[in-house]
Amino acid sequence: MVFITRKEHFNAAHRLFREDFNDAKNLEVFGKCSNPNWHGHNYDLFVTVKGELDPLTGFVINLKDLSRIINHSIIEKMDHKNINLEVDFMKGKLASTENIAVAIFHELENHINTNKVQLHCVKLYETENNFVEYYGI
Ligand code: NI
Repeated sequence: MVFITRKEHFNAAHRLFREDFNDAKNLEVFGKCSNPNWHGHNYDLFVTVKGELDPLTGFVINLKDLSRIINHSIIEKMDHKNINLEVDFMKGKLASTENIAVAIFHELENHINTNKVQLHCVKLYETENNFVEYYGI
């Protein structure tokens, strides 16, 4: 079993807030990410796939194929977009890094998983210092 990771990147806007909180309460709970006028992050996305090596290629998965899947399913939908308003798979969800990582995992797994390879982990950096890992469990 070998693990291989592809890194991709997107910029996106969001706001962390609950409709049932007022602005003061949202600020208290969510801090600067609750700014009513939105703000952006430079997200780094690490997608790890696992599988046996293909004896013909020496690959777990062709990284060009993995990159194409991630770009088509995730990056094109999120890059330079407002996560709260424009990303179909985030509709009705709080745009926390945790929720985004979980949603990305579930968007990707059906496109990646075959009898030979499986999506292992999605790691999403919101800032240099803060990142989330999700393994589907
Ligand atoms: Ni934020």
